[in-house]
Amino acid sequence: MARGRAPGAPIVQEITDVTQDPEPRRNARLEDIDRQHFFHPNTDLRAFSAGELGDATIVEEAAGIEVRLRDGRRLIDAGAGLLCVNVGYGRTEIADAIAAQARRLAFYHAHAGHASEPAIRLTERVLALAPPGMRSVFWGLQGSDAHETMIKIVWYANNALGRPRKKKIIARHRAYHGLTIMAGSLSGLPGLHRGFDLPIGPVLHTEAPYAYRRPDPDMSEAAYARSCADALERLILAEGADTVAAFIAEPVMSSGGVLPPPDGYWEAIQTVLRRHDVMLLLDEVVTGFGRLGRWFGADVYGLDADMISVAKGLTSGYLPLAGTLVSERVWSMLEEGSRRFGPFAHGFTFVAHPVCCAAALANLDILAREDLPGNAARSGAWLLSALRARFGDHPLVGDIRGVGLLAAIEFVADRASRRRFDAALALGPRISRAARDEGLIIRALPEGDIIAFSPALTITPAQIDDIVARLARAIDR
Ligand SMILES: Cc1ncc(COP(=O)(O)O)c(C=O)c1O
Repeated sequence: MARGRAPGAPIVQEITDVTQDPEPRRNARLEDIDRQHFFHPNTDLRAFSAGELGDATIVEEAAGIEVRLRDGRRLIDAGAGLLCVNVGYGRTEIADAIAAQARRLAFYHAHAGHASEPAIRLTERVLALAPPGMRSVFWGLQGSDAHETMIKIVWYANNALGRPRKKKIIARHRAYHGLTIMAGSLSGLPGLHRGFDLPIGPVLHTEAPYAYRRPDPDMSEAAYARSCADALERLILAEGADTVAAFIAEPVMSSGGVLPPPDGYWEAIQTVLRRHDVMLLLDEVVTGFGRLGRWFGADVYGLDADMISVAKGLTSGYLPLAGTLVSERVWSMLEEGSRRFGPFAHGFTFVAHPVCCAAALANLDILAREDLPGNAARSGAWLLSALRARFGDHPLVGDIRGVGLLAAIEFVADRASRRRFDAALALGPRISRAARDEGLIIRALPEGDIIAFSPALTITPAQIDDIVARLARAIDR
């Protein structure tokens, strides 16, 4: 399709032409429309539309942990889409639940006290699975909007309590909490801010618990954990505890490097937060629903959160749905808000969408029936030991780490000094591309030469061994 399409000339007509293409497996027109008109997120727009990023990746179908591209290539997906397809692809049980709900009630809104049965049942189910102390769920559509909701609740609650100064939010460097304006501001990766005038608002960042790169390698993990908590406390005191409302973090930082917290980290952090009456906002968008080997990361680390965000694994990506879980304590502040301000004036058209809730219920049935959190713990241990056995002595491998089915390899130019490769080499993306040629999808993280694994929670030891063998061939290249 020509770049200089006349105004009003049909694009759709050309898409439907695809079915008549003599070479349907590799359809040049479809790829051209993709390049010229499909605005892809997180993509170099110029290079993509100029065709400089290689063959198109048009995914056509998937089953289990394997996806098939339109050009016929089959790839093992070691990332479960974007860390979300926890039950694996092709679960007809979820597809059937979606179809049945769409036929019965495709939509009704949840504003001004309206509800649908799947939304109520899902609320009950998620609260029963959630860590103790959670009272209520606000349903949204994705991780980012769950965090918009969270921060609005924090500000609203403090206004309701007559503490208008207590508004600052502390996040961590390297964090990824999403890309809407507030979620993007909370995220702590500079590449996400560049060109967007972010971060905005009363957002501060403190240290990430990056044990492999702690300033003094001789420091014990416990001492390093205390130093992270001390840094947080210094920041709260410097800003004034009466101005700091909340601290947001993932139980295990995911896109920022897969950073399991060092021993004692969460205990020390929670002590600081309690001392200064700062809320703990837990981002369980990745870790919720089994990824770390328990239903929630809060269960793994004994976290007592004020609010918890969930998304991805809630529906395993079959439809978009997110939730902001609110504790009893925060709920009582919101009731005070109703007394002061009237109705809680926040929400979106698609809050608690009945079809998405039906998908989530069917997904949670599978996670529970097949004990997929338990499998994540067992298979996660297998994955970590297989990676260590295969790559532990590799001269370019600095660290292999993980919890449950969230794992990573960090590559270094020099193991002794932990020196990084020159960023211009883009080693992580190169390994990811080499893996693609071995039929493996593996994600290179945005900062540092780190590749991450987050397969479906159904994965078996044999499938893990296959992934490790493919990766070894990719690294050898
Ligand atoms: C930890 C974490 N929080 C939040 C988000 C944002 O979720 P979404 O992309 O659904 O807005 C992500 C997305 O990858 C994430 O990894």
